[in-house]
Amino acid sequence: MARDKSKANDGGWKKFLWNSEKKEFLGRTGGSWFKILLFYTIFYGCLAGIFIGTIQVLLLTISEYEPTYQDRVAPPGLTLFPKAIKAEFSYTLDDPTSYEGYVKSIDAFLGAYNTSGQRDPAKFEECSKVPGDYYDRGTLKTHEIRKSCSFYREWLGDCSGLRDPTYGFKEGKPCLIVKLNRIVGFKPKPPTDNSSLPDDIVSSYNKFVIPVHCQGKKEEDIPKIKSISYYGMDGRAGFPLNYYPYYGKLLQPNYLQPLIAIQFTNITMNTEVRIECKAYGDNIQYSDKDRFRGRFDVKLEIKS
Ligand SMILES: *[C@@H]1O[C@H](CO)[C@@H](O)[C@H](O)[C@H]1NC(C)=O
Ligand SMILES: *[C@@H]1O[C@H](CO)[C@@H](O)[C@H](O)[C@H]1NC(C)=O
Ligand SMILES: *[C@@H]1O[C@H](CO)[C@@H](O)[C@H](O)[C@H]1NC(C)=O
Repeated sequence: MARDKSKANDGGWKKFLWNSEKKEFLGRTGGSWFKILLFYTIFYGCLAGIFIGTIQVLLLTISEYEPTYQDRVAPPGLTLFPKAIKAEFSYTLDDPTSYEGYVKSIDAFLGAYNTSGQRDPAKFEECSKVPGDYYDRGTLKTHEIRKSCSFYREWLGDCSGLRDPTYGFKEGKPCLIVKLNRIVGFKPKPPTDNSSLPDDIVSSYNKFVIPVHCQGKKEEDIPKIKSISYYGMDGRAGFPLNYYPYYGKLLQPNYLQPLIAIQFTNITMNTEVRIECKAYGDNIQYSDKDRFRGRFDVKLEIKS
């Protein structure tokens, strides 16, 4: 009896797997299985299609030439050379190794500004020798490569490294090189209200320049700085508007940011001096959290 029962059970399972009478496999006919497979193929095919389609549409709206969403981009920061941790500079006048690193840092950065690298008329053009208005090179939507305005390191005078390869460090008159960070399409606006500007800037005001000015961070620093020399295009202490807007790495691959050099020509030695430098413009902002947003401050100590 038990034997029969097990045989019957066995037969039932086998019959489920393959029912030869009804020609059913796992309870379904070939046609039924085919329909199910067809259904799921189309179903998952459509899901994949929607997924890929959505991503494609998103990619189409993003241009690699032009930032799509720039509303959260911070206003430009300033970058300073030489690079130093926390922008604290300290060296000994009689010990060249103590400022060697600073000199190398400026050397490396200014290499791109050598006249020899800017001779190719397909890449560079002599825009102007005096500050002028924004240089419109067409829309970001057309994808031809744009030229860039030359900026020669000679313009940085005593800070160009051409006359004094130590950028003044050897003589205790160190130079700092400053640039405004690049932002695609950004047009810095010179200050329009001169009531809040330092006197030096008001007297050298030019409507095509974003002026930069340095002073003692605190009251006690002011008498230690004494005199500052600025170098830049046309001898001006600021960034000329001809170099803006910037068209981005792909459309303007040889772009050179305008520079200014700041030289502390008679700074008190053997004491720490804190200096704050600011760029002034209607759309240049400062932030308490970001020490390099539109300004920077350095600590400088020269030991003699
Ligand atoms: C740029 O010019 C300086 C001084 O003439 C030279 O020492 C340096 O090697 C040059 N750099 C490049 C990248 O051409
Ligand atoms: C300051 O700005 C006002 C208005 O733009 C102008 O009339 C005046 O001459 C400026 N002052 C100086 C010293 O440039
Ligand atoms: C540097 O400052 C000192 C002290 O104020 C002054 O006597 C000297 O004339 C200044 N040197 C230069 C070159 O300006």
